[in-house]
Amino acid sequence: MSDLKYLFEPRGVAVIGASHNPGKIGYRIVDNILAGGYRGKIYPINPRGGKIAGVDVCTSIHGVIHDVDVAVITIPAKHVFDAVMSCAKRKVKHLVIITSGFSEIGNSAEEKKIVSFARDNGMRVLGPNIFGIYSSQVSLNATFGPQDIKPGNVSIITQSGAIGIAMIGKTRVENIGLSSIISVGNKSDIDEADLLEYLVSHDDTRMILMYIEGVRDGERMVNVLSEATKKKPVVVIKSGRSARGAMAAASHTGSLAGADEVFDCIIKQCGVIRAERIQEALEWCKFLADAPKPGGDSAVIITNGGGVGVLAADACDKYGVSLYDDQDALKSSFGGSVPDFGSTKNPVDLTGGATGDDYDKSLSIALKDKHVGSVICLGCETAVFNAEKFTGVVKKKYRAYRSNKPVVFSIFGGELVENGIGKLRKENVPIFSDVYDAVSCLGALYSHERHARSAKPTYEKVQIDAKAIGGMVRQARKAGRHFLLAHEAHEVMSAAGIAVPASRVARDIPTAVKCAEGIGYPVAMKVVSKDIIHKSDAGGIALDLDNEQEVVDAHESILHSCKAHVPNAYIEGVEIAEMVKPGIETIVGARRDRSFGPIVMFGLGGIYVEVMKDVTFRAFPINRAGALDMMGDIRSYPLLIGVRGEKKKDIDTVAHAILKVGAIIRECPDISDIEINPLVVYDEGEGVKAVDVRILLTTRSA
Ligand code: COA
Repeated sequence: MSDLKYLFEPRGVAVIGASHNPGKIGYRIVDNILAGGYRGKIYPINPRGGKIAGVDVCTSIHGVIHDVDVAVITIPAKHVFDAVMSCAKRKVKHLVIITSGFSEIGNSAEEKKIVSFARDNGMRVLGPNIFGIYSSQVSLNATFGPQDIKPGNVSIITQSGAIGIAMIGKTRVENIGLSSIISVGNKSDIDEADLLEYLVSHDDTRMILMYIEGVRDGERMVNVLSEATKKKPVVVIKSGRSARGAMAAASHTGSLAGADEVFDCIIKQCGVIRAERIQEALEWCKFLADAPKPGGDSAVIITNGGGVGVLAADACDKYGVSLYDDQDALKSSFGGSVPDFGSTKNPVDLTGGATGDDYDKSLSIALKDKHVGSVICLGCETAVFNAEKFTGVVKKKYRAYRSNKPVVFSIFGGELVENGIGKLRKENVPIFSDVYDAVSCLGALYSHERHARSAKPTYEKVQIDAKAIGGMVRQARKAGRHFLLAHEAHEVMSAAGIAVPASRVARDIPTAVKCAEGIGYPVAMKVVSKDIIHKSDAGGIALDLDNEQEVVDAHESILHSCKAHVPNAYIEGVEIAEMVKPGIETIVGARRDRSFGPIVMFGLGGIYVEVMKDVTFRAFPINRAGALDMMGDIRSYPLLIGVRGEKKKDIDTVAHAILKVGAIIRECPDISDIEINPLVVYDEGEGVKAVDVRILLTTRSA
């Protein structure tokens, strides 16, 4: 049994700060609890006693003789701690702290004091700075929002109070039933992950909608979300899509990983469906809370207009709905109900002359056909299109088949059509004037189903030599650095088993020549200095050196130019490296994200990486399949599987490199960021080369 049971099913609720003044929040909450028909006992608490909304008031919580599972606290911030102490004495289980004026305005100390006292005394805290909680299980509306809430099977968790309160009203207008709505506010104790854990095993909740602004314990959230979405659809609206750089991290990987891009990839990895707009999210909720499982993987479009059918096909592509494609089967199923000049190819085009009866007939076929997983039924107003007849058919078919196969409808036209849509929507029929809205609902359902059916990943230990890597880190720390020099970073790669170009560091010309001969011409040379970050700007790089003389000249020129460019630089030597053959340049990275813990990155690399922004992220761990899936996410993926007769590239070795950098970040807590750019990828079987590798250390000392 979850420890939040009595938050959702309290036997008794005290309202500390219940007010006699109907204009105050403390009155409103008591009134809402009463109006909502709460099935437990309510205890308004106010030192002045008397009656509030007709209920006897206790002057103190100590006066309540029955169980109080929840205390809603709605008194000014400076009095809250005292109230919490009195709740502890009374053995209250959950505190719902409405009061503002804590960490959201910088008063974190008081908030921490309250939470720590509450936890020490066996109480959990929801809030502070919230509008409260609604739970249909006991008809508890302990909020100061609207009174009229339709009970149902959608649960909403919201970080924003204003949006949450508005959503209560909006769900009523949209006829969406709620099993709960919970405001998390400052999330001082109970957060989204706690609530998800409870709601996922909550029978009355069929799907969960979350509005979030920021993630606190992202690593836990990833685990909880991945579990939750196996059982129920979770839709998220997260604001801050455009707030690029808000979480700019120290490394290049960080600068690419505006927090929202990371969030977007990771919640997708967890099987969460992200909505752009509140209205879209609510449409999905309404549909997902009511729709049966698809009867199969692909949909059939039935339409009276070619254009709208094409739009629907486009929308299917956008939202990941595949279309049933067996032309012979389609012909044999729909041939009898489509005129000769129509089409049985999917979209099934009944043509502009289609009547209500034609729709009735073809819908019946689609809904009975075991090959058809779901149906998209479209109508365009034409001379013979009778909106009333059509809506009658829709109503009949939807009622008859709603427990059998998902169906969405879209009709487009004038006043009669719009009126028909309005009437049907009131009865929760998924009908829309815009075909994209209809298809997006189906897309959300398929997206959830795909994730729920996918096998739970298993992880194998990735072999890296953490001891050798630790040695390199200590060496850098000893030298007072928070980053590794290029050759040290290469050694880390070798210790992890990622191929790097052969290289050695030379401190004088004869050694440089010897190294070059050992590696084999042509070679590249790079200055080694902690004081020179931008090597090429300082003239610290020479490429394609073919013989001894060129190495001698390059050595002199590098030292001369670097000294002129950064006069006080301490130069440790010059790195002589194998010239790397050209291949596909990718970028592979890993870092410890502030929200999500260890994350890995993969994308198209090279010098245009920031312009192309063709990168993707995953919370780590992932397994080999996850790494391959990640690679398939980027737009440039076709380059890796070979275009225009090119051979397939060594994607398996890239997948290993992704897993290895993730493992380094996980196992070596001193390393905060790794970026390999480029990781040059060769043809299948020929491996990769980590050319430039940047490794940053955490700023705390070892
Ligand atoms: N125990 C019980 N009742 C107490 C009390 C105590 N220790 N201390 C005061 N009260 C009573 C008061 O006498 C008053 O009752 P009355 O109106 O009958 O006299 C009632 O509790 C409320 O106290 P009051 O001091 O009038 O506070 P308030 O109603 O002006 O404001 C809050 C209290 C919590 C609403 C306010 O501090 C606040 O935080 N507002 C913002 C809430 C918010 O927006 N939350 C986020 C939403 S998303």
